[in-house]
Amino acid sequence: MHTAIKEIKSHRYGDGDAIVVKGWVRTRRDSKSGVSFINVYDGSCFEPLQVVAPDSLNNYGTEVLKLTTGCSLIVSGRLVESHGKQQALELRAEQITVVGWVEDPESYPMSPKRHSIEYLREHAHLRPRTNVIGSVARIRNAISQAIHRFFSEQGFLWVASPIITASDCEGAGEMFRVSTLDLQQLPLDEKGEVDFDQDFFGKEAFLTVSGQLNAEAYACALSKVYTFGPTFRAENSNTSRHLAEFWMVEPEVAFSDLDESAALAESLLKAICQAVLSERRDDLQFLSGFVDADLIGRLETLVGSDFIHINYSDAVAILEQSGREFEFPVFWGADLSSEHERYLTEQHFKAPVVVKNYPKDIKSFYMKLNDDGKTVAAMDVLAPGIGEIIGGSQREHRLDILDARIQELGMKLEDYDWYRQLRRYGTVPHAGFGLGLERMVAYVTGLGNVRDTIPFPRTPRNASF
Ligand code: 4AD
Ligand code: MG
Repeated sequence: MHTAIKEIKSHRYGDGDAIVVKGWVRTRRDSKSGVSFINVYDGSCFEPLQVVAPDSLNNYGTEVLKLTTGCSLIVSGRLVESHGKQQALELRAEQITVVGWVEDPESYPMSPKRHSIEYLREHAHLRPRTNVIGSVARIRNAISQAIHRFFSEQGFLWVASPIITASDCEGAGEMFRVSTLDLQQLPLDEKGEVDFDQDFFGKEAFLTVSGQLNAEAYACALSKVYTFGPTFRAENSNTSRHLAEFWMVEPEVAFSDLDESAALAESLLKAICQAVLSERRDDLQFLSGFVDADLIGRLETLVGSDFIHINYSDAVAILEQSGREFEFPVFWGADLSSEHERYLTEQHFKAPVVVKNYPKDIKSFYMKLNDDGKTVAAMDVLAPGIGEIIGGSQREHRLDILDARIQELGMKLEDYDWYRQLRRYGTVPHAGFGLGLERMVAYVTGLGNVRDTIPFPRTPRNASF
């Protein structure tokens, strides 16, 4: 049996306790008195454990002086009160077993010096060994667990939505096609050539861009559901906010409208921030230094304040009156760029903002048309430092209006037949939204780029590791 370092730090153990720890060397420092101080981490918490390897460890003594960053170890010994300021207890080693040496330490890419975040991206398989990516991983986990807890406590059911699908939820054509490598499985076209457009055993199929349409089917029977899984977008955007593969949380509620969805989004974001504040203060403290920002203060402010709710038309008016020269022009009917979004949250309101009722022409086909005939019951939640973090809407539950919209956009009714049936058989107003997990983690950690908030980022031309 061995003990996680987190357990030692949580004061469940005291002076004199015998324990075994398994982990990796972060640093080694040798004192003149013939004692080495080895910082060992195991990922269970931010702080490493200080292992003191004294001279008396003679059978292993020479090996201790060969230990370098990254070596894996099993250390057994006794906890003693530490003279150092960094920790209350340290582990006085009685036996150290090196499980794996670092071959050629000079070439080890994760030396203990501070590496740039861009450098770490090029070593995605080793970067979880660094403080910064370890902290991000623990915070991402805390956020994921908090999301499940939040919905479970509110009576939502977690529904798995399919990853392979024929439906383009956003109608934007940004889908990856699913292919088989076995050409013999593909049908031939009239010329007798392999027909790559008929790929999924003779049908077209894609990776899902969103689980929403499927979530709607379940909400229209089980009332309150959510999906939480990977989604895919074949958009060729090289920005700090876009990934080709990202995780989305999508609640969907029957007998519900846009305002209720906005309120649900606000309480979800607050619950997430509260959970990270209470569970991952150690990582927040470290990351605050790393990104040079008061992350704890920022999250506490978000939890304690009411979000601003405004209409798209008012947001446009604010931007027009700002006197700013934006890269993309602002006018009623234009989509908001990230620069516009960040102006609203960071400069104007200095708070998260929910923008509602966008022009129908810049939003998806499934959104409920408002009585003005020009806008839809859509919302985006904008967070300081990131911009759009949530996109959602009340759904169009009236079949005639939905059909008109699908046709107006040049889409085919038959492609959405099953979705349209939900409107023919016991239709009901319903609403929901999607929260991008990587953008949420980017907001909480202060890291500006979603490539650093997912373990292995997929971006255009980059699917290694
Ligand atoms: O605004 P989006 O496209 O909305 C939907 O997909 C709806 N079907 C959701 C729903 O109503 N159930 O995406 C929702 C969120 C965005 O606000 C953003 O946080 C994230 O998903 N997102 C991305 N994150 C990383 N990379 C991308 N390429 C993303 N595209 C969207
Ligand atoms: Mg959106």
